[in-house]
Amino acid sequence: MTTDVLLEATDIVAGYLPGVDILTGCNFELGERELVGIIGPNGAGKSTLLKAMFGLVQVRSGEVVLKGEQIANLPAHHLVTRGVGFVPQTENVFPSLTVGENLRMGAYQLHKSEIDARIDAMAELFPRLGERMRQRAGLLSGGERQMLAMGRALMMEPSVLLLDEPSAGLSPAYQDEVFVNIKDINSTGVSIVMVEQNARRCLEICDRGYVLDQGKNAHEGSGYDLLTDPKVIDLYLGTLAKA
Ligand SMILES: Nc1ncnc2c1ncn2[C@@H]1O[C@H](COP(=O)(O)OP(=O)(O)OP(=O)(O)O)[C@@H](O)[C@H]1O
Ligand SMILES: [Mg+2]
Repeated sequence: MTTDVLLEATDIVAGYLPGVDILTGCNFELGERELVGIIGPNGAGKSTLLKAMFGLVQVRSGEVVLKGEQIANLPAHHLVTRGVGFVPQTENVFPSLTVGENLRMGAYQLHKSEIDARIDAMAELFPRLGERMRQRAGLLSGGERQMLAMGRALMMEPSVLLLDEPSAGLSPAYQDEVFVNIKDINSTGVSIVMVEQNARRCLEICDRGYVLDQGKNAHEGSGYDLLTDPKVIDLYLGTLAKA
């Protein structure tokens, strides 16, 4: 359990189509400076939970509270101004725009001098992006593209970052790099929620984790507890866990 809760979702029922609930009573909590993972099978509702907390899916009942304020069903741009950044699972950069232009898009509300300062900060955090500011995002490698997507979300200096499958589609070397980036960002004080298919790797670096299954919480605990829980191993971590 955490003491200073930043973001809390309670008994969330949410879905896309009328009469079809995808989340059927989900609970989630993110503490100050925590790195929390969400794992579970395809279609479990992991992305839906992130989107429900970011105003992109209708919350039909339940509460989402950010820093003590009710935020369920607030539009996403209101959440950005309240310090939440979101990196979606797919299409998270504009391929025809340059790296620099993509970063600027993340902070168009700021003054030019502030934007320039934030871009410098992102170039320092992700040196590979710094070297490619004028290159089109569509020409980046998969790992660089994930860095750019995270960089864009970080332009507004969020206190909470929601990441949907940051390592998807990357080679093991790029995955390692992205996980190091995520740890680094977390160590600067940003609280992070990360949905991951790469369940073992995710739980190894997270403080706590949740397993979602069929729109509900199935298990939760410290990363270590989940990695060593025989039921979680058997159902969700597969043969890799026994290697
Ligand atoms: N835009 C949408 N409209 C209707 N149904 C949707 C939509 N997006 C997702 N769903 C449905 O919601 C359910 C949960 O999807 P979700 O994307 O949250 O799963 P997930 O756990 O993120 O899966 P994955 O690991 O494959 O990314 C699925 O049955 C999916 O078909
Ligand atoms: Mg998903």
